[in-house]
Amino acid sequence: MNHSSWPGFTTPFVAMVVLLILSSCAGGDIGTSKSIPLPDSAPTPVIDVQNLHFLAPEGMPVGVAVKVGRPTNSVLKSMDRQAIVDKHFSQITAENIMKPGYLHPAENTFFFDHADALVDYAASHDKTVHGHTLIWHQRLPNWMNTFSGDTAAWTFMMTNHITEIVSHFAADDIVVSWDVVNEAFANSDDDRDGRNDLRDTIWLENIGADYLAAAFRAANAADPNAELYYNDYDISGVPAKLRAVLDLVDQFQNDPNPVPIHGIGFQMHVSLTWPDIKQIRKSFALAVTTGLKIKITELDIALNTDRSRNPMSFAEFTDAVAVQQQERYEAIVAAYMDMVPEAQRGGISVWGIADSDNWLRRHNALEWPLLFDDNFESKPALQGIADGLTGGR
Ligand code: XIL
Repeated sequence: MNHSSWPGFTTPFVAMVVLLILSSCAGGDIGTSKSIPLPDSAPTPVIDVQNLHFLAPEGMPVGVAVKVGRPTNSVLKSMDRQAIVDKHFSQITAENIMKPGYLHPAENTFFFDHADALVDYAASHDKTVHGHTLIWHQRLPNWMNTFSGDTAAWTFMMTNHITEIVSHFAADDIVVSWDVVNEAFANSDDDRDGRNDLRDTIWLENIGADYLAAAFRAANAADPNAELYYNDYDISGVPAKLRAVLDLVDQFQNDPNPVPIHGIGFQMHVSLTWPDIKQIRKSFALAVTTGLKIKITELDIALNTDRSRNPMSFAEFTDAVAVQQQERYEAIVAAYMDMVPEAQRGGISVWGIADSDNWLRRHNALEWPLLFDDNFESKPALQGIADGLTGGR
């Protein structure tokens, strides 16, 4: 959406300012002026963000997930997408092409062509890469799902997978961090026993709960300079799930031979209303007590995909909805800046460039969760993030 389509907000705002000026010139004599209420926060009439990532304090990455696998929307083939990434972001996450099934398609075969091309692109455009993801229960190659062997064989298979991938990218310091384990905890509401315990995965089943520590140790050995994250969804809104993650971190830190972990990734696929902003702030504050870095790894703000499975709320992306989304982006980023001290900020990444590419559209065509619209024009959401980073207008 082009910002020229926002006159609806400028007109009353300008009229009100003119009235206020007139009233003060007339010594406050214009009777009507006193009854005009000042809005709590006037909507931003213009999107004025030159380079989003420069608004963050130095050293705090502002990232974006990109697609590479298919020529139709690969960032490496699309000048529209590159223009946005170049201008606004300092870090890149591969949305899919660095997942296990992609990088490690057969037991003795690794496929690095696409990831290497992405890392080259990042290097030549002065960006870093956040690696996503080494161990997960989704996007596994078939051979891993059907692997058979005892605990030792499984542990070797998993650590070898990590070692090969992390060491491949270790040399040039472009891949500066990794989601080592993704989504290892169940959500209480979709877990059979209603607890936020470890998710049933091939890793838990065949290695036991120690797989998490083993994964982090292997990643650290392969690249001692890389920052290693545990990454999960809904931890900004489900206290029991965050508690489970913090207990894991506690175990890692209090192990006689401490497990190398440097950060907690909050995915933050959120909606306009869930989680409540107070809950988000509390969750950041709690996570900060670990002393680890806190990173928002996959931020997007859905309009019709609510965790509470609300029926569709918005059939159209209207100006008013865009402003609500802008305010929500600003509030979330402001919460992060307020609650996470500078030294612990691992950065903020959004989960995609433009609405048209976003993953939520697979299930619902009526989603507009990102900072740029289907025509690669900036949305008010971009201004929202910018204002969240800088502490408001
Ligand atoms: C999603 C991608 O965005 C989709 O394109 C893909 O089909 C499935 O995976 N949590 C994660 C991400 O950690 O890897 C997921 O990405 C979104 C949820």
